[in-house]
Amino acid sequence: MVHVQVYPRENHLQLVHLYYDFKSFFFSYENERTVLILALVDRPYFILHGFSLNEFIRTPSQVNIGGQYVVNTFRFSHVSVVLTASRMYKTYVNKLMEEQSALVFFVNGKKISIDSPDPKVTLIQYLRRNLYLTGTKEACSQGACGACTVMVSYYNHHQKKIVHYSGNACLTLLCSLHGMAVTTVEGIGSTRNGLHPIQQNMMENHGVQCGFCTPGMVMTMYTFFRNNPKPTQEGMERALEGNLCRCTGYRPILESFKKSCPCGLGLCQQSAEEKKELAEKTATEKPTLENYDKSQDVIFPNELQKSTEFSQKNVMFVGGGYTWLRPVSLTKLLELKKAFPKATIVMGSQTVIGSKIRNNSLPSPEILCCTQVVELKRMTQDTQAITVGAAVTFAQMEEFLQETLKETKEKDCSVVAALLEALRWIGADQLRNVATLGGHLMSVGPHDLQTLMLTVGAELNFVSTENQAKTIPYEKYVKNGINAPSSTDILVSVVIPLNKQNEKVLYTKQPFRRGMDYAIVNAGMCLKVDDKNGNIDTLRFCVGNIEEKPCSLDKVSGLAKGKTLDDKLIPEICDVIIEELKGCKADSLKYKVSLACGFFYKMFKQITETIQSTKEKTEFGLTAALSSGAQYYDVPNPEAKEIVWKPIPHAAAKSLTTGEAVFIDDMPNYSNELSMWFVASTKAHANIVSIDPSAALAVPGVVDYVDCRDVPGNNDYGPLVHDIPLFAKKEVSFHGQPIGGIIAETREIARAAARLVKIEYEELPAILTLDEAIEKKSMDPYIANHTNGDVDKGLAEAEITLEGVVQTAAQEHLYMEPISALVVPKREDNEVEVFVNTQEAANCQKDVGHFLGIPFNRVSVRVKRIGGGFGGKALDTIEASGVAAVAAWKVNRPVRLIYTRAYDVKTSSKRHPVKAVYKAGFTKEGKITSLSIDLYLNAGWNNGISMFVMELGMLAMEGAFNIPNYRGTGRVCLTNLPSNGAFRGFGAPQGTFIIHSIMYDIAKHTGIPFNKIREMNLYQEGDKNIHGMVLKHFNLPICWEDCKKQSKFEETSKAIAEFNSKNRYRKRGVAMSFCVFSIGYPMLFMCQAGALVNIYQDGSVLVTHGGIELGQGLYTKMIQVAATVLEIPVDKVYISETSTVTVPNAVETGGSFVADLNGGAVMNACQILKERLQPLRDAMPEATWEQLVQAAIFSRISLSASGFYKSRELGYDFQKQGEGQYCNYNSYGAASTVVEIDCLTGEHQILRTDIVFDVGKSLNPAIDVGQIEGGFVQGVGLMTNEKVMINKDTGELSSYGPGNYKVPGIRNIPKEFNVTLLKDAQGENRPLYSSKGIGEPPLLLGASVHFALREAVNAARSDQGLSDNYKLACPATPEVIRMGCAGPIVKKVDAIQENNQNIQF
Ligand SMILES: Cc1cc2nc3c(=O)[nH]c(=O)nc-3n(C[C@H](O)[C@H](O)[C@H](O)COP(=O)(O)OP(=O)(O)OC[C@H]3O[C@@H](n4cnc5c(N)ncnc54)[C@H](O)[C@@H]3O)c2cc1C
Ligand code: FES
Ligand code: FES
Repeated sequence: MVHVQVYPRENHLQLVHLYYDFKSFFFSYENERTVLILALVDRPYFILHGFSLNEFIRTPSQVNIGGQYVVNTFRFSHVSVVLTASRMYKTYVNKLMEEQSALVFFVNGKKISIDSPDPKVTLIQYLRRNLYLTGTKEACSQGACGACTVMVSYYNHHQKKIVHYSGNACLTLLCSLHGMAVTTVEGIGSTRNGLHPIQQNMMENHGVQCGFCTPGMVMTMYTFFRNNPKPTQEGMERALEGNLCRCTGYRPILESFKKSCPCGLGLCQQSAEEKKELAEKTATEKPTLENYDKSQDVIFPNELQKSTEFSQKNVMFVGGGYTWLRPVSLTKLLELKKAFPKATIVMGSQTVIGSKIRNNSLPSPEILCCTQVVELKRMTQDTQAITVGAAVTFAQMEEFLQETLKETKEKDCSVVAALLEALRWIGADQLRNVATLGGHLMSVGPHDLQTLMLTVGAELNFVSTENQAKTIPYEKYVKNGINAPSSTDILVSVVIPLNKQNEKVLYTKQPFRRGMDYAIVNAGMCLKVDDKNGNIDTLRFCVGNIEEKPCSLDKVSGLAKGKTLDDKLIPEICDVIIEELKGCKADSLKYKVSLACGFFYKMFKQITETIQSTKEKTEFGLTAALSSGAQYYDVPNPEAKEIVWKPIPHAAAKSLTTGEAVFIDDMPNYSNELSMWFVASTKAHANIVSIDPSAALAVPGVVDYVDCRDVPGNNDYGPLVHDIPLFAKKEVSFHGQPIGGIIAETREIARAAARLVKIEYEELPAILTLDEAIEKKSMDPYIANHTNGDVDKGLAEAEITLEGVVQTAAQEHLYMEPISALVVPKREDNEVEVFVNTQEAANCQKDVGHFLGIPFNRVSVRVKRIGGGFGGKALDTIEASGVAAVAAWKVNRPVRLIYTRAYDVKTSSKRHPVKAVYKAGFTKEGKITSLSIDLYLNAGWNNGISMFVMELGMLAMEGAFNIPNYRGTGRVCLTNLPSNGAFRGFGAPQGTFIIHSIMYDIAKHTGIPFNKIREMNLYQEGDKNIHGMVLKHFNLPICWEDCKKQSKFEETSKAIAEFNSKNRYRKRGVAMSFCVFSIGYPMLFMCQAGALVNIYQDGSVLVTHGGIELGQGLYTKMIQVAATVLEIPVDKVYISETSTVTVPNAVETGGSFVADLNGGAVMNACQILKERLQPLRDAMPEATWEQLVQAAIFSRISLSASGFYKSRELGYDFQKQGEGQYCNYNSYGAASTVVEIDCLTGEHQILRTDIVFDVGKSLNPAIDVGQIEGGFVQGVGLMTNEKVMINKDTGELSSYGPGNYKVPGIRNIPKEFNVTLLKDAQGENRPLYSSKGIGEPPLLLGASVHFALREAVNAARSDQGLSDNYKLACPATPEVIRMGCAGPIVKKVDAIQENNQNIQF
């Protein structure tokens, strides 16, 4: 008897199993497109290749399967096949399991039951698309940003307690939640029913900017407080490691959470002194706990607590073409695995296996979820070993080990300590809460605990489906290639031997970024000494993450055996380590091997010093420190009637903290809406030979394919010239360039089908680096030239000349909300409505009109808010809205396009990498007499706006120093990479870094302090700079001196010198930097803005203007302006959105000038209204605002006014240097930073940063401080860890999201972060209540970190006798710092041949 099972998937058949007498014959499909179909008769009838049902009918008559059967085609109705076969299958599976179950779980206290759940569906998909709970945000879908954090709770019937944990909804498979309760941000507070104290504090402490990360932050903290009645700050910081914020710089978020702690008073995390002070203070005023209202917490469902059914009963879900089997005993698991040998085992599904499920690419439709198998969840300990079940999560393991360590305090438990150290730094809480030891060891690494298991000699207990138990040493398992001994074997537990007497175990890991990051290299050491002679008995040294599997360096063991514990052994062993590892295939091999040697050195010393009870132990690693900070600003007068100048919270903070705020992907679907996805180039440079979308079009659910042939208007756009094709036509110029698009019913179908479009290319030579572009003269003809005096003469006459090169690399915006567009064709009169998260609504309107060939008045672009932009949502959003518009036009239905994080990062614009080649002439005293700089920008494949970035960067470079003879030339270089564009600072960060680096070089060359060199060359009040601006109210020296004083620069420098003299492996450095930032666009036509202000009958006011809210607090500031002019309370004023319908032709939101411009327009509109109302006000001086408005209506006074503002009369032409007016005014700021580095690993931490900033009379000091902190931290990323990588063969960006592009996390901000707004800052041309623009300039101060690091590295070098001026590369990654610190290890690894697959952008 043959039994057949056919799986219907969507409306096509995809997978079939054939069972013969319940012994399975398994015909796996070869790829996603191959279908096996077998008739339900007593012999296998036919099998065919095909994709859809239509193809199934057309299949040839004979097909050979694996050479075994030749079968005949048989035609019959597919429907009967599907039904009969799936019924048969269910009968079969039901024999193995109990009845098919319904998936039951709770969301925010509400029970949800799904009869046939689809195992592919993730929690985030279900929350957002089925429950419309869009507060949980999808920013990366990689488990690497925490935006999707929710709280998951279950009842532990053994421990009789409710367990809460934070989890990433983007990786959590819905089926894994059976019997659990999920709490989302909507479940803890709302604007209607009241905010949770955590949300309230986030609002009040200004922890919200764009707000895209906010719900995730709130849920992480909510879970943390539910689990920790007595939280510590360390605990809080650890909990937040899994949540990224690209806007705030974390300080205010941390501050908000400190204040939310369950005691209600924020005491828990305060120092003993502060506690005492507060206790005394509150002794008289009875403490109130009203901040923390427990009644708001969702109650854990009683049903889950009472019944054991959910966790102790076998479960089977059948849906979506898959069968999810969740046994609760090992016997059942083995039985199932025997029946379905190819079934996929899942635990936490946090590996590639999870993505295979989501992408429909499993080898068989059965998924075996083992998380509830009781035998796999045990943890035991005896005197010899700890045994950990395969299904034990990292969090459970950590808890168990901590208890173990407590209980065995007096005993040496270095294995336990090493395990805890390893667990501490694997991912973040959201991962540790679900990832299991079994899944970790069974998946292809490199993973952290794999190295440690090898080090300690762990053993793996497997059991086969024949119930045969096998114990395999982990070492043997690794050598066999990290695969279970057979696919039918199941890992049950891991035996981790405890260290024996005289044996010590250590583990260490160096990540790229501390907190939520994989290891660059990790290592473990197990050293046992001979009890008799104290010599080394055994030494095992293992390293991981250099290649796919960890390795034990046996030659090291051989060499060490029998030797005395002596430092002299170290160099010998390092030689062996280098010998063993030098042939590895890994990028950055020199660094990785140096880490391995450094780890050996550190661990060997630590163990030796412990065994030998050395009194003064060598200090390794960085000093532990917690975050703190202070903000100093002048609040003019809290009683003053003006609402401007007050630190009021972000206007949308309530909606953002509750998750109610709507971003584009949160907008409800139109009933006829479709999704689209790109068909993109897979070559860096090629001609397109042919395109065949037929396979994609055959996929059920695919509606259409679009490319350049479907563009009804013009297929090109561009800021200056229209030279960017919307869809590539003949040639592709970078990997990922859009060629076409697939339009489908769902985004998943569109994305899968797009991969099936066949494109043939004729490859062309590609240029991937700036140096290659310079060498091959691949440049735009435009040359920037700024000259002052006679440079050549100046150089010839200079006392000293110096030449050098300064470079900066690309930076990815990594805004949290990916680029998104929704285009709705209105059908009537060709109207099109575009929702896009753009910084330039008017340009989107113009270009969509241009692409569609319709007048601009038919295109309305609406932007409510955007989840971070930083300049990255400019030109790239024109592409997004354009392709979605063409697609929507073609199918005449709404089309939504949401970029995946990977596509966004790989193809969108970046900050321009630059190379500056300079020659400087100066006196012996350090006064610069002449300077020539040749600047080269890597523009990517197209000039775009690069020439403006270059011009502005060059003027920033020259903007602060008075150099009598100066010449700067700039060239835009073209490569086959995505086109670079605007990024916060627009060239100024690069320009500022370059000029300060030159000053640093001069300082080192002359031996004059860096600060002094800059002070002596600085402009003075009244000087005229290169673009002709007379520097009036030149506040920079004031900021500089204040900063120097506040940071105690001189004392700190001395203390650091002292510290460095006492520390060998950690060094500190301190440095200052400053910025001069021009505010106001050089092009006059961009210095204008409009606004529309409407007053309604109830006195409420709706303001609209041309600026876009991207988290910078623009709407809040505009509301403050309107409320101040109209003299009404701030809550009377509302801004709903920015739209081309209400305010036309607005300039883009960028350049730190948006508040000035739009504020001017809002002010103008409000003044017009005020003037109109004035006669009534004079007549009714006592009337309330509402009465006044009513009277105006009856008096037929228009209550709607449009405002307009233009900022100045003179613009600037870059070709006529020094003529006209380049900008309105300058913003100034100074920073002083102290860093510490680990010389053996290159890791650093920022110990302290002090910033003094001139923001004029701040319009909203809380928002401005937020901009300073957030901008600075983004600058820190640019200067340190953010590294965009490219595959050198394909030109594809190998950075694809926060998983491998490391923006600063909570651990990377200054431990002490003090910000001061310059008091009584004077200045001219500040149109908006004497305030100054602030968005971009603070980013430039990140350079202070780089110079401080350079100081620290130079201190390390001077210990090695190197007194050179080391050119620390930018970004100063751990690799750059480590190699810069030099020393014997670096010298030794220098001979290693590097063969990097990836190169820096
Ligand atoms: C955001 C993020 C950050 C991360 N950071 C780190 C990090 O810093 N350091 C690090 O080392 N790792 C890191 N990881 C990887 C992580 O540690 C592993 O993905 C995780 O440990 C896998 O466990 P799991 O329970 O999710 O396994 P699953 O994904 O469920 O399973 C993994 C594999 O093991 C197989 N398997 C599972 N159980 C068994 C069993 N009992 N018998 C036989 N086969 C089995 C599965 O079939 C699958 O092939 C990170 C992952 C993510 C998503
Ligand atoms: S969206 Fe889930 S972690 Fe980023
Ligand atoms: S506020 Fe955190 S990412 Fe924008």
